[in-house]
Amino acid sequence: MFLKISVLLLGLSISYTLARRLPLSLTTNEKIQKLHSESLVLAEVHQDTSTICFSYYNPKLNLITVQYEVDYDSCISAYETSSKQVENCYKSARESIETSAFQSCSALYACNLASNAYNAFECASITAAEDAKIFYAISANATDAAIKSKSDYSRVDTTRNVCVSNAEKNYVENTSKVYGLLNSCLLGNDNIPVSTESTTTDFTDWSTYDE
Ligand SMILES: *[C@@H]1O[C@H](CO)[C@@H](O)[C@H](O)[C@H]1NC(C)=O
Ligand SMILES: *[C@@H]1O[C@H](CO)[C@@H](O)[C@H](O)[C@H]1NC(C)=O
Repeated sequence: MFLKISVLLLGLSISYTLARRLPLSLTTNEKIQKLHSESLVLAEVHQDTSTICFSYYNPKLNLITVQYEVDYDSCISAYETSSKQVENCYKSARESIETSAFQSCSALYACNLASNAYNAFECASITAAEDAKIFYAISANATDAAIKSKSDYSRVDTTRNVCVSNAEKNYVENTSKVYGLLNSCLLGNDNIPVSTESTTTDFTDWSTYDE
């Protein structure tokens, strides 16, 4: 009996701390930590109810962690898609700047191909003046595109942050709710619906978290 309970406690603490990608803000969430400590204390005191309560609520806690990971992944993949769209949106503007710069520089460079000095200087004189206008145009276009793209990046970042913080909020709320039910169950207020499921599968599941 004693061994069984320590295995269950191990399961609970592992499900709680070993979730692969839970950020520190979630693993150190004060409310959850408090409820978690309460569970451990209650489990010690109410060993009679522990087994049934843990085997019912542990998988639920685990499911919430899995759901968080799924939600988090979908936030990140949506973010990556949007980031790519932003990059694509400015691809042609970047190419146009590159082309203008290349053409301007080539034209000026080619002036020295002239056979005599006079023609080379005259070419440079005219071409450089033309290039200066093009460079101002590049600068104006680039300034404009910099402002637009910055606001696009910021919109994409905000969307990701809102998405992640919703996932975190759901994790904290759901986990707190289940800990509340678990603790109430440990206290003897057994609100577990009658289940036909075997609990052995739960134990087997936990053993996979052992290392
Ligand atoms: C957690 O909470 C959210 C929002 O209330 C809900 O959509 C989600 O299905 C809940 N369950 C789990 C296992 O995360
Ligand atoms: C500046 O932008 C305009 C409009 O997008 C474009 O037609 C022009 O070719 C651009 N100029 C340069 C030098 O990039």
